[in-house]
Amino acid sequence: MRLNKYLAAAGLASRRSSESLIQEGRVTINGHVMRDLSTVVDTEIDQVEVDGRPVYVKTKDVYILLHKPLNYVTTVKDEKGRDSVVDLVKTGERIYPVGRLDYDTTGLLILTNDGELAYRLAHPRYGVEKTYIARLNKKINDHDLQQLRRGVQLVDGKTAPCRARKLGKEIVELAIHEGKNKQVKRMFRKLGFKVVDLHRAAYGSLQLGKLKYGQWRNLKPVEVLGLKKLVGLID
Ligand code: URA
Repeated sequence: MRLNKYLAAAGLASRRSSESLIQEGRVTINGHVMRDLSTVVDTEIDQVEVDGRPVYVKTKDVYILLHKPLNYVTTVKDEKGRDSVVDLVKTGERIYPVGRLDYDTTGLLILTNDGELAYRLAHPRYGVEKTYIARLNKKINDHDLQQLRRGVQLVDGKTAPCRARKLGKEIVELAIHEGKNKQVKRMFRKLGFKVVDLHRAAYGSLQLGKLKYGQWRNLKPVEVLGLKKLVGLID
């Protein structure tokens, strides 16, 4: 793709003002200033920068399933300089995590460059079920489980009815459809528990399978279709 077309496709400027950027020497490819308007960019390999900032053109949709390890942030940049999940996944594309998992939460995380799907998956309106396994600091009884299922009053509203079942004396599987900030930990805290470990085991029908901590794979086309169906992007 020609350089001026590339800059326009990246949403940076119209084709004409892209030409000005190039002629002014503000555009580099792999660190070299390019003033030739007919320069061709290899979108798979070349790193294009304008005024020292990387510029990306989305060439294909990418959908990744990652087993998030402990001690990674799910933001692209972290002001404390902590490691980001984005650095665990090597694709030529610029991808973003769908929703958040806490630094100390492990488990299933989707990353994609498909903005519309990411938006819908993370939006409570589409009600995608997220299944968590929480290990607590003490035993839980049936009454507490019932309260979780019915909904718990948090500062930002009551949680919607959800599924909760005991997997062990101190271990609960909780399946929620919302995405309030730190929702699972806050629900348990409200009932007097501390979550010692939190793991996301499933997202809709997606599960981690054999992926180990830090491992990832591309979603299969049928899995992507399933997600799109779930949030009404296709029939
Ligand atoms: N709920 C939480 O409290 N933490 C997470 O990381 C995800 C859901």
